[in-house]
Amino acid sequence: MLNPLDQEGQQFIENLLSRMTLAEKIGQMTQPEKNSVKPGDVARLSLGSVLSGGGGNPESNTPQTWRAMVTAFIEESQQSRLSIPLIYGSDAVHGHNNVVGATIFPHNIGLGCTRDTDLLRRIGRATALEACATNVRWSFAPAVSIPQDIRWGRSFEGYSQDTRVVTELAEALVEGLKGEAWNNPTSVLPSVKHYIADAATLWGSSQRVNRAELERDRTLAIANMGEDFVTLLDRGAWQIDQGDTEVDEQTLRDVHLPPYRAAIEAGALNVMASYSSWQGLKMHAHRYLLTDVLKGELGFQGFIVSDWEGVQQVDPDFDQAVVVSINAGVDMVMVPFEYERFIASLKKAVEDGQVSRERIDDAVRRILTAKYALGLFGQPHTDPALLERVGCAGHRAVAREAAAKSCVLLKNEGGVLPLKPGRGKILVAGQAGNDVGMQCGGWTVTWMGSPGPVTPGTTILAGLQHLHPELFEYDADGSGSDPYEVGVVVLAEETYAEGMGDRTELKLTDEHLALLERVRPRCRQLVVVLLSGRPLVVTEHLPQWDAFVAAWLPGSEGNGVADVLCSTQPFTGRLSFDWPGSQADLRRGPHTGRLFHIGDGL
Ligand code: GLC
Repeated sequence: MLNPLDQEGQQFIENLLSRMTLAEKIGQMTQPEKNSVKPGDVARLSLGSVLSGGGGNPESNTPQTWRAMVTAFIEESQQSRLSIPLIYGSDAVHGHNNVVGATIFPHNIGLGCTRDTDLLRRIGRATALEACATNVRWSFAPAVSIPQDIRWGRSFEGYSQDTRVVTELAEALVEGLKGEAWNNPTSVLPSVKHYIADAATLWGSSQRVNRAELERDRTLAIANMGEDFVTLLDRGAWQIDQGDTEVDEQTLRDVHLPPYRAAIEAGALNVMASYSSWQGLKMHAHRYLLTDVLKGELGFQGFIVSDWEGVQQVDPDFDQAVVVSINAGVDMVMVPFEYERFIASLKKAVEDGQVSRERIDDAVRRILTAKYALGLFGQPHTDPALLERVGCAGHRAVAREAAAKSCVLLKNEGGVLPLKPGRGKILVAGQAGNDVGMQCGGWTVTWMGSPGPVTPGTTILAGLQHLHPELFEYDADGSGSDPYEVGVVVLAEETYAEGMGDRTELKLTDEHLALLERVRPRCRQLVVVLLSGRPLVVTEHLPQWDAFVAAWLPGSEGNGVADVLCSTQPFTGRLSFDWPGSQADLRRGPHTGRLFHIGDGL
């Protein structure tokens, strides 16, 4: 890959580098989370970046308060000795999803079913505009995970189990985030993640959670899941996320590397290292894959950022973990709490000769190159007028289109779909039929997401009633007694993120089954719509359903789901994951014994 900067840019960076102290260089390699940064430290330490983790929101969560929060950090960076602009990072993984009022697009598993690169480009562009509205110029997206065992709680962050689909869609999203050019003031730096083979870990191989340490685990405390954490652990939470991948190198290269190559060729200047291990060695410590393969063989000229506390997982000895990960090729450390300890540790490592000054210069050169490519030195702030684009009608129309194109019709007998007048009133049942939070899933306003009106949007029910105002009757728990010709039941997985969503079994809950039992006898024909972050085993229930739609996690515009249910838009979605027929299928990995296959869809 050619140097992304012209001669002038390269000279600018070398000149700046030559004027920086070791402390300032290490400051640029440091990324704390926004609640942990003490006032004045951005300037005093010349911090390179600050981030919002999942749910890292300002007290009152609006686009305006988000912009004020981010702008304050950037302005403080301008007070540092060399005024090196800070770049703020956030997980805008399906829209600028931490921000209340932002457009929430379908999660990647649904977008994978669209196979629509033009749509992904438009989603990337809309997301970039809404992120830039809040002065955020770095999004930790796209995940290019290729989920193998879909018991993994991050399966919905993967576009597909087909490498080609992931590669094409990720490249399109990167192009959308970029816009006309990286130095365009509405471009957003993508973070292609999590390098590498984060989605191929083995069940039971994760060492992320130590039950004896739960009280002291500040990161997991942020999740504040509704359910008792130990109950979640008993259901499989943190069994596979951040675990070990045992595939051979040829498989690693054939299945998991192509999306990185394509994203780098599309100009991506940041990659996030994976928490997971390959053949027992932590990716954050993997010099061969981080440096020899990614930076050497693929010619990656950008910088590698660690994941949240990813460096600390490398070795129980903090200082040793710092030395190993920086020497392996990590350039910026998402520390996120103990940033001063990290800075002191790395400074000592350089002074003791454990980390070379050349390695520090290489890391800082890469970071500054990305900042220069984005035009931050000349224009550290975006245009506040962009605030009017957040959640605008045009972006919501794209999200509605994406929600419609994500839906996959897997069964439709007796002509029950499309829903239309002429067969009496139609019953709609299930809380999930009228719940924006359940439509959006994890990584929405909070890290884990949650049910309820968490952000402005349109529920599936509201979409249906808008299309046919007199046709639908809503009965959330389906406990009424009136009979109907046609009933629609909307079921949803609970919301989750990361290892909190790892599950030993993927099945409908007792509540789902009870709802179906209440509604089934009342309707001559039954349509089931499933909102989920991955396929669930429904084999034994499917015969009782006349129609079945996989709607995944469609985002804030549930009217897109209504569009295909009522044929305002045709069903065009095709499965991008295999659909397991049994719990046993889950343990055998993809492509064996399936109820439905990649590519299926009526
Ligand atoms: C999380 C995730 C990563 C995310 C980062 C910042 O733990 O692994 O995908 O970008 O931390 O929120």
